[in-house]
Amino acid sequence: MSNKIIIAIDGYSSCGKSTLAKALAAKLEYVFIDTGAMYRAVALYFLRNKIAFDDSAAIVAALTKITLNFSYNAATLKSDMMLNNENVEAEIREMAVSQKVSEVAAIGEVRDFAVAQQQAMGTQKGIVMDGRDIGTVVFPNAALKIFVTADPAIRVERRFLELRLTNPTISKEEITANLQHRDLLDTTRERSPLRQAADAKLLDNSTMTREEQFALALQWALDKIKEANG
Ligand code: DC
Repeated sequence: MSNKIIIAIDGYSSCGKSTLAKALAAKLEYVFIDTGAMYRAVALYFLRNKIAFDDSAAIVAALTKITLNFSYNAATLKSDMMLNNENVEAEIREMAVSQKVSEVAAIGEVRDFAVAQQQAMGTQKGIVMDGRDIGTVVFPNAALKIFVTADPAIRVERRFLELRLTNPTISKEEITANLQHRDLLDTTRERSPLRQAADAKLLDNSTMTREEQFALALQWALDKIKEANG
C-alpha cells in the first residue's frame, strides 16, 4: 500500500467534519488539515488590526503580513493553528471570530491566499483536508470526496455541548443564529460556495454514532486506497 491518496471532506458547520477527518488521518497515518482554522486565523488578524472587509488594498497588504502554520500539540494529539508564530487555537474558536469568519472567507483575495497554501500541502498526498470547497476547488481530483451533513437541530445540540465547556453562558438561540448565518453566507457567496461535488459521497450523520460514521468513511477510504494501488 505505497500510493497515498487525498481525502477531501466538505460540509456545513458543526457537522462533525473535523472529528471524522482527524480520526481518518490518525488511522491511515495521514496528515489532517483543518482549513476552517486558516480562515479563522485570517479573520482574527483582520479583527485585531481593524481591517475593513471591503477595503481591498488594506486586505492585500494585511495578507502579506500573515504567516499560517500548524504546530503539533502532544498534549491534545492534534495540530494547533499558529498565526505569525502565535498559538491562536483557542482564540479562533471564540464567538467573536465565529461571527465574522464567514464574511472573511467570502473575500476573493483571502480565498486565493488560503487555497494556494492548501494546494501546496497536498503535493505529497497522504492528507485528509476538511473545509467547504476542498472537493470542488482545492482538490477537484481528490480520490475520495465526502460531503458531510446533519439535521440542523442536531448540529446546534452538538455545538452547544462543545461550546458550553468553555462558555457556560452560551445559549442555543445564539448558536442557532450563528449556524444559520454561516450556512447562508457559505452557500450563497460568489466565490467557491459550499456545494456537494458531483462525485462526492453524501454522509448524513444525523442518526449515526461517531463510530458508525468512522467505520463507513474508513471503508470508503480503504477501497479508494486499494484502487490507487491496484
Ligand atoms: O469549519 P469552520 O467552522 O472552522 O470554518 C470557519 C469558516 O470558514 C466557515 O464559515 C466557512 C469558512 N470556510 C471556507 O469558506 N472554506 C473552507 N475550506 C473552510 C472554511
